[in-house]
Amino acid sequence: MSHDLFLAAKTAMAKAYAPYSKFPVGAALRCDDGRVFSGANIEVASYPEGWCAETTALGHYIMGGGGKITEIAVIAERMAKVTPCGGCRQRLAEFTTPDTKVHLCDENGIAQTVTMGEILPYGFAGDILK
Ligand code: THU
Repeated sequence: MSHDLFLAAKTAMAKAYAPYSKFPVGAALRCDDGRVFSGANIEVASYPEGWCAETTALGHYIMGGGGKITEIAVIAERMAKVTPCGGCRQRLAEFTTPDTKVHLCDENGIAQTVTMGEILPYGFAGDILK
């Protein structure tokens, strides 16, 4: 049912710019109105300046007008069931709820589905800052 989101993440992964790690990653987010935003990791010669696929996808999502994210898919060429890094979990949490699905993929499709609450328990919430 979410196979199209896997395909969007896989297509994004093909656009990764990862000459240093050679670890291409793709991510795709679906909104409740059906829009899909995707992204790939982008690396920089000064290594810490690069960023993750999930972050690129979030940039497209915000510039596309945002909305309610219902599910996320992540794929890496060289690692089955890659999970978002800690920083990206926090970024994704900004725009999701604990029950938002995160599909972990392998080369064939979705291999496991977890939730944001499972991968970021006790995350910092910025409510008090608003
Ligand atoms: N990376 C992502 O894009 N997303 C993840 O969830 C894990 C790591 C990227 C960052 C870097 O370009 C490469 O994978 C190796 O760490």
